[in-house]
Amino acid sequence: MATIENEINRRRTFAIISHPDAGKTTLTEKFLLYGGAITLAGAVKGKKAARHAVSDWMEIEKQRGISVTSSVMQFNYDGYCINILDTPGHQDFSEDTYRTLMAADSAVMVIDASKGVENQTRKLFKVCLLRDIPIFTFINKMDREARNPFDLLEQIEQELGIQTYPMNWPIGAGKEFQGVYDRGKKEIVSFTANNGSRQVEAREVDINDPRLAEIIGREHYETLVDDIELLDGAGGEFDLEKVRHGKLSPVFFGSALTNFGVEPFLKDFLQMTTPPLAREADVGTVDPVNDPFSAFVFKIQANMNKAHRDRIAFMRICSGRFEKGMEVLHVQGGKKMKLSQPQQLMAQDREVIEEAFAGDIIGVFDPGIFSIGDTVCMPKKKVRYAGIPTFAPEHFALVRQVDTMKRKQFIKGTSQIAQEGAIQIFQELGGGMEEVIVGVVGTLQFEVLEYRLKNEYNVDIRMEGLPYQFIRWIENEGLDPKKLSLSSDTKRIQDLKGRHLLLFANNWSIQWAYEHNEGLRLSEFGQN
Ligand code: G4P
Repeated sequence: MATIENEINRRRTFAIISHPDAGKTTLTEKFLLYGGAITLAGAVKGKKAARHAVSDWMEIEKQRGISVTSSVMQFNYDGYCINILDTPGHQDFSEDTYRTLMAADSAVMVIDASKGVENQTRKLFKVCLLRDIPIFTFINKMDREARNPFDLLEQIEQELGIQTYPMNWPIGAGKEFQGVYDRGKKEIVSFTANNGSRQVEAREVDINDPRLAEIIGREHYETLVDDIELLDGAGGEFDLEKVRHGKLSPVFFGSALTNFGVEPFLKDFLQMTTPPLAREADVGTVDPVNDPFSAFVFKIQANMNKAHRDRIAFMRICSGRFEKGMEVLHVQGGKKMKLSQPQQLMAQDREVIEEAFAGDIIGVFDPGIFSIGDTVCMPKKKVRYAGIPTFAPEHFALVRQVDTMKRKQFIKGTSQIAQEGAIQIFQELGGGMEEVIVGVVGTLQFEVLEYRLKNEYNVDIRMEGLPYQFIRWIENEGLDPKKLSLSSDTKRIQDLKGRHLLLFANNWSIQWAYEHNEGLRLSEFGQN
């Protein structure tokens, strides 16, 4: 038992979120370097594989080997066993990205110091807030021209609605970047550009050291003293409990590319985060250490091998120890089974594993039985996790098959692809499946849908973009949507589970719906 406890307690499972190009890949790579999981910078190039055009879909598929391996990475550092969940930051922004966050215990948010909070960070952040997970901010690219650090913090606080606490403070930026002041240690760590090698030249100097002004220059010194005074006086207190509940984000300034501030960040981060915590299930709280194996599916990767339409289901282990070959219960399917070919992803390689622990992510071969959100557990201790909410898609199209003889394949194809979670499908109220409304989070998914229906199901489709921007689930139980008073550009639809939704062309129509229907409750998330 002691070893299971030790193994679980040394686990840290987090997601990295950012807007494209903020430096997520670079930072991840530096982490892996410290963990010894890779030896060469430039080894993690998964995201580049996804620079896309439709015609590249097969290319994307071919490259999937890379993007899959880069989607979850495990490595050891300083006695910790770290699982990094990569959220695709590129334009192929899909629901997968959101779901990945459901499997993480905390998140690292990478922000480009010259740009501040950007659109995709904002979206991802919303999901972090849903779960109250700790969020750590790394303000990257301090070796380039950067915005004023106070402005950056203010923007994070205002736009994301979370308090911040700078753990260190930058001295200058760009060519003038001198290093950071570590507020905990009250020391300066000075910066010397070093072409990205593993060790940064860190010189630690006490803030009261009279030589400091010489080292960083009088002007920087004066600014620093003023800044620190302001931070200590007006800034909030550091409160670890708030951090752990996602109410306060510790902020670190640094530069991933030049490897400045990365290791101190990793060290502090690991100390402040917790091992996997208890999760809620239908039977109550499931304890990661004392309860036997349980996990839930948060991602399904289709098409690992086109000829077999095989898929890999990614599971986050929530409790206990997984052992290869053991019999588990697939709760939703009501069947006992052995998970075949359990794999874990170590940086570049996939390897079959013998065992894994709470906090780990495993990928198992899926013959088409799993859906997103499903639970697997030990037959003798049945639990069921709440599932993963369906996130509101942002682009919509009306899709129908060209050849009506292909109806069966069309239904099968769209349903399966929806089950994998790549798209969501909706119908007109009381309508059939001859034509469906497809909703996606990122528009690349439309192209993928078309390509896959043709190639895997031999169905040609016609797609017509729909002018809706927002979708909302109606939360009022038993409410007949036909009785709602809505603006003429609002559409009533249902999902495959028969839940009612509304499609809105703009914010104004949403307001209209609220104003004309007292007590109406709408949600951006569909609870499974
Ligand atoms: P992403 O995964 O968040 O999309 O970003 P990625 O790490 O790929 O970084 C985006 C670009 O920013 C890369 O340059 C990378 O080298 C650069 N970068 C990352 N961190 C820093 C930093 O701390 N300082 C500076 N100056 N640049 C940084 P690129 O030219 O687009 O790609 P590459 O040719 O270097 O691969």
